[in-house]
Amino acid sequence: MTGIASLAETLLAAAELRLEPLRPGHAEGLFDGLAEPTLYRFIPHQPPADAAALRARFERLAARRSPAGDQAWLNWAIRRPDDSYAGLVEATVGSAGAVDIAYFVFRRCQGCGIGRRAVGAVVEALAAEPAVTAIGASIDTRNTGSIALVEALGFERTGLIRDADHFKGSPSDEFRYQLPLRR
Ligand SMILES: CC(C)(COP(=O)(O)OP(=O)(O)OC[C@H]1O[C@@H](n2cnc3c(N)ncnc32)[C@H](O)[C@@H]1OP(=O)(O)O)[C@@H](O)C(=O)NCCC(=O)NCCS
Repeated sequence: MTGIASLAETLLAAAELRLEPLRPGHAEGLFDGLAEPTLYRFIPHQPPADAAALRARFERLAARRSPAGDQAWLNWAIRRPDDSYAGLVEATVGSAGAVDIAYFVFRRCQGCGIGRRAVGAVVEALAAEPAVTAIGASIDTRNTGSIALVEALGFERTGLIRDADHFKGSPSDEFRYQLPLRR
């Protein structure tokens, strides 16, 4: 198994949090949190229709690769010490080793540093992989929470794309963020 494929199956720890490689069986535990509409305010997606739809999506993600084989899909469910789930961290690795990250912390769990610890642990693990050449994120300019999170993790703003997308009735301008890889 390559480093990236092996990382995709690795249980990560972030202080008191565990990051479990995503499996279809996580759908039941993650559905309520991911069904919260406010999580999708600044992203083009919609909440999952039901737990079965979420499970079908997680089954596709459990392949850990895109159907064309040009991307690796690394996803972790965030679990708290009481065994409840707090969110999801996603990393998409392109064929040249450039990684794009995305993340969700459930509404009831926000503002407690869970995003910082969980996304920080994933970013640290990715940065340690020699095959990873870049780590970045594209963030709607209105998404102050997500901007604060990546800046807290040391990402630097490298660009602004106006009208990058259009969803939920308005245009979306996006900041591009990159993490300087210190190697
Ligand atoms: C973005 C998100 C993951 C942050 O998770 P979180 O667990 O609440 O973040 P944390 O508590 O770890 O906070 C991290 C930093 O961001 C700041 N922050 C968090 N939410 C904020 C907000 N709404 N406004 C301003 N700052 C905020 C915190 O103060 C903290 O900064 P600090 O470490 O300098 O004190 C969460 O709000 C979320 O899931 N949003 C909806 C989904 C989404 O938009 N994902 C991003 C797609 S690109």
